Amino acid sequence: MEYLEIEGGNPLYGEVRIQGSKNAALPILSAVILHRGTTVLRNCPKIIDVLYMLEILKGFGCRVSWEGEALVIEASDLAACQVAECYGRQMRSSIMLLGSLLGRMKQASVSYPGGCVIGERPIDIHLGALEKLGAVFAEEPSGLKAVCEKPVGLTLRLPFPSVGATENVILLAASAEGTTVLENAAMEPEIGELCRFLNSMGAKIRGMGTDKLVIDGVREFHDTEFTIMPDRIVAGTYMLMTAAVGGDVRLLDVPLEQLGSVRKVLGQMGARQEAGEGMLRIQSKGRPRSISRIITRPYPGFPTDLQSPLLAALSLGEGCSVIEETIFEARFKIVEELRRMGAQIQVEGQKALIQGVEELRGTNLTARELRGGAALVLAAAAARGTSRIYQYHYIARGYENIIRDLQSMGSVVQST
Ligand code: EPZ
Repeated sequence: MEYLEIEGGNPLYGEVRIQGSKNAALPILSAVILHRGTTVLRNCPKIIDVLYMLEILKGFGCRVSWEGEALVIEASDLAACQVAECYGRQMRSSIMLLGSLLGRMKQASVSYPGGCVIGERPIDIHLGALEKLGAVFAEEPSGLKAVCEKPVGLTLRLPFPSVGATENVILLAASAEGTTVLENAAMEPEIGELCRFLNSMGAKIRGMGTDKLVIDGVREFHDTEFTIMPDRIVAGTYMLMTAAVGGDVRLLDVPLEQLGSVRKVLGQMGARQEAGEGMLRIQSKGRPRSISRIITRPYPGFPTDLQSPLLAALSLGEGCSVIEETIFEARFKIVEELRRMGAQIQVEGQKALIQGVEELRGTNLTARELRGGAALVLAAAAARGTSRIYQYHYIARGYENIIRDLQSMGSVVQST
């Protein structure tokens, strides 16, 4: 069985360029089908979820090619609007094709995205909002069928600032009749990036960076070339890894303005930081300081996607830390694996109480989902001895090449 082997305990020294953002690339790839023409994307991360999305687009009839580092997608003639079952089930974020398929094809057929390790992940907010724009849904044995003959803009408010639901509304409203005002919209940077991409191909969206988006529907889009922003969660993962393992690391192409809450936590942990133009240098020695209480929140709060890496880092903290998870209901599954390394963590409902230990022991570990897998890599790099992480393919869903990145920070890591 495949595994990633890490020799822990070596401080990190080196430089890593941060890849393009997974959670910006996926909705942008969905938006591409709104235009009957050609889109060129740069800095699109070569991760499993992007490759899945490209297979889905090809299934619709898009022509997809890589020209060097640039991804070229030609979407003039779409023949299908069904998300292939095999991909739909594998990748729940294929649900964000609903808005763009309805906008382009007036119909869509997607597998009902199941829950996953971190939670049930219902889509009621997506469906409720799209219905307000005119979509009609039918649940069938093969999945979810949707039609929307004529999307019409209106003012609507999300009951919770769901990232995916915000993206689906934007994707349908971009070509709806009239204006859509979306209130209580998610404000994650990836939403702003999707809006900037859509505006670059002729959409008319205002209010990026706020929780109120105003979308004037347009009839036509045009060709565009767009560079995808760096991935704040990948950057945050390596920032926390350096704080936990120790060393002196320079991160390049870092979206500094999106990492305020993470940089604050790094400071609380005692890491030294030096910011430059798109660059962040992190220096850390010895054990990280503990953090009495940290709560995950929608942006700009501390991101839920860095909760597992932070949990792993604070397992070595001097003293007690408490992490409260408020976004997903089952995002502490990684605790049992960390305990097997000697971590002392108690989970009480949505809170993890961490009693920091002097050291973690390397051992055999199993990844079960993306960010939990990244947290195991962090813990293994910090632990004494060698660890093997099985099922590390989950990590490749969001990290372009974590082995390459770790090696460029001087970590001793190899994979089978
Ligand atoms: C996006 O997921 C990200 N995925 C997630 O990143 C991220 O953790 C999450 O936003 C929060 O920031 C992508 O962008 C591809 P939500 P999404 O809708 O859109 C509940 C990663 O590791 N909810 O904001 O699914 C939901 O159950 C991934 O890169 C409903 O109840 O997140 C959750 O508890 C993991 N009904 C909360 O809202 C709905 O209809 C936040 O979900 C939709 C969501």
